[in-house]
Amino acid sequence: MNRIERLIGEMSLAEKLGQLTMTAAGHAVTGPIVAADATEAIKAGTIGNLLNLFGADRVREMQRLAVEESHLGIPLLIGFDVVHGHRTLFPIPLGEAASFDPQLWALTAREAATEAAADGLTMTFAPMLDVSRDARWGRSAEGPGEDPWLGARMAEAKVRGFQDADLCAADALAAVAKHYCAYGAVTAGRDYASVDISERTVHEVHMPPFAAAVAAGVAAVMPAFTDLAGIPMTANGALLTGWLRRRLKFDGVIVSDFNAVGELIRHGIAADLTQAAALALNAGVDIDMMADAYRRGLPTALERGWVSMADIDASVRRVLRLKARLGLFDDPYRRGKTPEAAPVIAARRQLARAAGARAIVMLKNDGILPLAESVRNLAVIGPLADAAAEMRGPWWGAADPEDPVSVLAGLRGMLGELRVPHQPGVEIDGENVAGFAGALELCAQADAILLCVGESAAMSGEAASRAHLGLPGRQRQLAEAVLERARALRKPVIAVLFSGRALIVPWLIERADAVLAAWFPGSEAGNAIADLIMGRVSPSGRTPVSWPCAMGQVPLFYGQRPSGRPGDPMDRFTSKYLDAPDAPLFAFGHGLTYGVFALSDLRVTADRVSENDTLEIRVDVANRGARTAEETVFLFTHDKLASVARPLLELKGFGKIRLNPGQSGTVTIFLDANELCFLGPDLEPVFEPGEVEILVGPCADRSRLLVATIHLVPPRP
Ligand code: NOJ
Repeated sequence: MNRIERLIGEMSLAEKLGQLTMTAAGHAVTGPIVAADATEAIKAGTIGNLLNLFGADRVREMQRLAVEESHLGIPLLIGFDVVHGHRTLFPIPLGEAASFDPQLWALTAREAATEAAADGLTMTFAPMLDVSRDARWGRSAEGPGEDPWLGARMAEAKVRGFQDADLCAADALAAVAKHYCAYGAVTAGRDYASVDISERTVHEVHMPPFAAAVAAGVAAVMPAFTDLAGIPMTANGALLTGWLRRRLKFDGVIVSDFNAVGELIRHGIAADLTQAAALALNAGVDIDMMADAYRRGLPTALERGWVSMADIDASVRRVLRLKARLGLFDDPYRRGKTPEAAPVIAARRQLARAAGARAIVMLKNDGILPLAESVRNLAVIGPLADAAAEMRGPWWGAADPEDPVSVLAGLRGMLGELRVPHQPGVEIDGENVAGFAGALELCAQADAILLCVGESAAMSGEAASRAHLGLPGRQRQLAEAVLERARALRKPVIAVLFSGRALIVPWLIERADAVLAAWFPGSEAGNAIADLIMGRVSPSGRTPVSWPCAMGQVPLFYGQRPSGRPGDPMDRFTSKYLDAPDAPLFAFGHGLTYGVFALSDLRVTADRVSENDTLEIRVDVANRGARTAEETVFLFTHDKLASVARPLLELKGFGKIRLNPGQSGTVTIFLDANELCFLGPDLEPVFEPGEVEILVGPCADRSRLLVATIHLVPPRP
């Protein structure tokens, strides 16, 4: 009998439920790391997993209690939200998505895992894979943006990065794909609210990133807090066991979200913890995080025959198998054994700097950027300029709030203190305008003005939905005053927006000379921004969300289905707003560079294509600008006539090319024709013969895409 079966055979019910329980440990430096009763429970084997504990020594001590002082000696899983970095922070995931760079996505995850594993961790509650089309939802910041295909590519890269090839390596973490499924579709963008969308949308839009994570071998999955049409995901047997385990063949661990099993009572589908525990276990949830429902409820549920010992054992088996895969039985102390060397940490900071710059999207540039050397005085104004802690974004892992490089520090480091005067002008969310005068005074001496405005880190992420997506507090008033003064003085203004979502600030975008969407760039924020502003790096980020011009456009996304009455300004009875454009201010994929690119000569290898073919799509790109830059070329498809109306555009690929001034090149994108399958009327994949448009260009604005047509045909005999 193997070790796992032997252990299961020796375990009491309480010990089994311990393996299915994950409890939080505080990491206050001054107090106990884990409550005394939890320490006793670890020794008794009735708590088998911890979260929110890091630091090699603390982890080692807890692991020691489990391994050396409990009767079965089973090591603990130690989980933490290493979402976009641990101590070194990379840009928030929405920002990283903007880099459209799978290699970078994998690399930052690899570095985050290495750093977190050196701190004793074994599991990260990441990647967050919720497709979000509603900027009100604060958790948009944590995920890949609006596109399912992009989400799937990010899922693969992140799983590969966190877990690496070998989960038992001392620097590998078990990844947790979350939050399964459709959490991004909460009603009106309000966090934790109900989700009620079609089954088709669940499978076409929200499922692909999870399917990709499973295919990439993700170790664990976390169900969303939310319900889907009345069935909370934590009790959703059809999607957890039926779809995830049976259809997608996921054989890893399902770990609940924080207290989500207990919250089944509030959802109104369980009368008490016993029923909640039974519903979750029967649906397929292996580990109960923080509700203590399994330990308290499952013994009674078992007595009543609501759950079976076989199902409890199956969950315990999955948990133990994961511990074995992580190498914890062979050496529970392998993670956190060796402190990281200084050069390793320094190289990681360099990666954070490069990633920070690659995430930034230049939304607008009238020519002021990159800043000329002749700019001797750059007035830096706004509450986000000297805001190191905010640069971390909503999941800061174990990063010290003082550690990130602020915009001010980055610019002063590059240009010297004297050339970069600063006034915050106002607080991020305050009412006090006493600082306006000082800020406006800076404009007179300045050659250019850098306005750093936006949200605080806490205004996005979990429980951070917003109904107004403009600048908080009095920032708009400050920005308008600065813009006005600058116009009178004929000084250019560059606005840098910090946010966990697309902000709706059309007035600012119209009036500033240049606008950068910086998201939250992480530990090296200020250096990354300085690199870009000073032209050491050419901007290459592209927005992974359609950028609204009015609140009423939200939810907004490019992959809409055709209307029977497409918008026509000359015809009243068509699909449009009376008081706002229906097009976004910036299309999905928009982002300027310091080059000027022209695309031409779209070629597709074949005209008649069957399901097993691979297409090669080529387009020529020329840089007609005066600077070296990287262009991103997107491949969309449109199935014009099908048994189910298909979206007007569907992302199927992208390619990049870096060109010097005057240089030309060709971008080649491969497309497997089976990517042109879609879910037919019965929600099963079909490959339907007919015409499909291949559209290639710089963003999801149809008027800027080159188009070719191919014909899908039945397989050749
Ligand atoms: C709640 C969040 O929804 C989830 O994303 C996170 O992993 C857990 N808390 C643990 O911190």
